[in-house]
Amino acid sequence: MGEGILSVGGDPFPRQDGVLFCEGVPLPDLVARWGTPLYVYSATAIRERYTELDTALAPVPHLIAYSVKANGNLGVLRTLAAMGAGADIVSGGELHRALLAGIPAERIVFSGVGKTVNELAAALDAGIRCFNVESEGELRALSDLAEMTDRTAPVALRVNPNIETPTPHAYTRTGHAATKFGIPAEDALRLYRLAVRLPGIRVVGVDAHIGSQILEVEPFRRAVVHLLELIEQLRMDGVEVEHLDLGGGLGISYEGGEAISAAAFAETVLSLIEPTGLTLVMEPGRYLVGEAGVLLTRVLYMKEGGGKRFVIIDAGMNDLLRPSHYAGYHAVDPVETHGRLRVPVDVVGPICETGDFLALDREIELSEPGELLAIRTVGAYGFSMSSTYNQRPRPAEVLVDRESAHLVRRRETVDELVAAELALSDEITIPILTTHES
Ligand SMILES: Cc1ncc(COP(=O)(O)O)c(C=O)c1O
Repeated sequence: MGEGILSVGGDPFPRQDGVLFCEGVPLPDLVARWGTPLYVYSATAIRERYTELDTALAPVPHLIAYSVKANGNLGVLRTLAAMGAGADIVSGGELHRALLAGIPAERIVFSGVGKTVNELAAALDAGIRCFNVESEGELRALSDLAEMTDRTAPVALRVNPNIETPTPHAYTRTGHAATKFGIPAEDALRLYRLAVRLPGIRVVGVDAHIGSQILEVEPFRRAVVHLLELIEQLRMDGVEVEHLDLGGGLGISYEGGEAISAAAFAETVLSLIEPTGLTLVMEPGRYLVGEAGVLLTRVLYMKEGGGKRFVIIDAGMNDLLRPSHYAGYHAVDPVETHGRLRVPVDVVGPICETGDFLALDREIELSEPGELLAIRTVGAYGFSMSSTYNQRPRPAEVLVDRESAHLVRRRETVDELVAAELALSDEITIPILTTHES
C-alpha cells in the first residue's frame, strides 16, 4: 500500500496537501472524469466494516444479510458478496439485484410488510433462505402459494418486541407497539401455532428489527431476551427453530462520534445466544456502507438574504433525501481547503422546495462558485433514496478500490427520464365507452 491509501482501520477519505482523497484517488480527478453530483464509495471501507462484524460474531454460527435497501448498487453488492455476505431484501427488485450480484439464494432473507404475491412467488422460485413474515394474511398467502407447487416456504415471524428505541428520528423507530411493522408480541405465539399447522409453511426462525441508527447495545439485548423467551415457548410446543434474526439498526458516526462497537455488541448479545446453539442472522445496512460514501457537488452560487448566507450547490434533495426527510445530519467539507474563514451557511440545492437543503446553519470554510464540496457519510440511504424530482437525472456512482476507480453506475440522461413515456404505443390506448344513455 502506498502513501495516502487506506490502511486497516484508517480514514477512507484522507486529506493530503489540502485535497480530499478516497483511498488512493484524489476526489477532484473523479469529478474531472465523471462530473457532479457524484457518489463515491470506498470498497476497502466496506470490506473492513464487514470483517469487523464478521470477526465479532465468529463465536456463533451467523449470517450477515446485508440490507440491500441501504445501497443496492451492483458494485457494492458484488463487493459484499465476495466477502460472503447474504442479503436482506424487501422487494422483487432487490431480489433480482441480489441474485444478479452473485449472492446465493440460500443467503437471502425477505423482509417487508407488504410483499405481493408475485414477489413471494419469485422468492419461492429462487429458493431463498427465509421469509420474514409480518402478518397473518401474508402467512396464509405464502402457504397457499407454496402448497400449489408442492413446496414449503421457510418462515420466521417478524415479532414486534415493543421496545422503545433511541433512534435520532421517529421515522426510523420500528420496535414499539404502534407501528405497521411486525406482529404484535401478544399475537406471536398464536401465529406460530398457526404457521406450524399450515401445509405450505416450514418454521425456521424468529425475527425482529427494532429500528435504525441505534448506538447503544441495550435495546438489542432486550430484543434478544424477548426473542429467546418466545423460542423457549415454541420449544415447549415442540417447535424447534434454527435461527434468531436480530434485524439491522447498528448505528454509525454521522457527527464525529463513534459507530456502535461490534465487539461490545457481540459481547452482550452472543453471551445470550451462544448457549442456545442458534444461528444468529443480522441485517445491517448503514453499518456496512454508510461511512464508506461521499456525495461530491459543485458550488453554483452564493447568496445572502434574511440574515442568512446560502451556498447553492448542484446536488439537491432528489440526490440525497435524508436531511429533509429525517433531519439527517451530514458533515460538509470542501474538497480542497484554502484556509479561508469558517462561516455559518445553509447549504441548499436547486430544487423548488423550501425543504431542499443538505445542511442548515453549518459552519464551513467559505467556498466560491465553481469549487467542490463533499457531503459525508452518504453511503447508506443516499443514492438508494434518490429520485428524478424536478426532472433531474440521478447522479453517477463510483467505487474506489485502493488506487483504482470504477464507474459502477453512469449518470442518467434526460432521454432516459422520458423513455418510458415515449415507448407508449397506440395499441394500449383504452377507449372510453359511454354506456350512459341520456
Ligand atoms: C427489516 C429491516 N432490516 C434491516 C434494516 C437495515 O437497517 P440499518 O440500515 O439501520 O441497519 C432495515 C431498515 O429499514 C429494515 O427495515
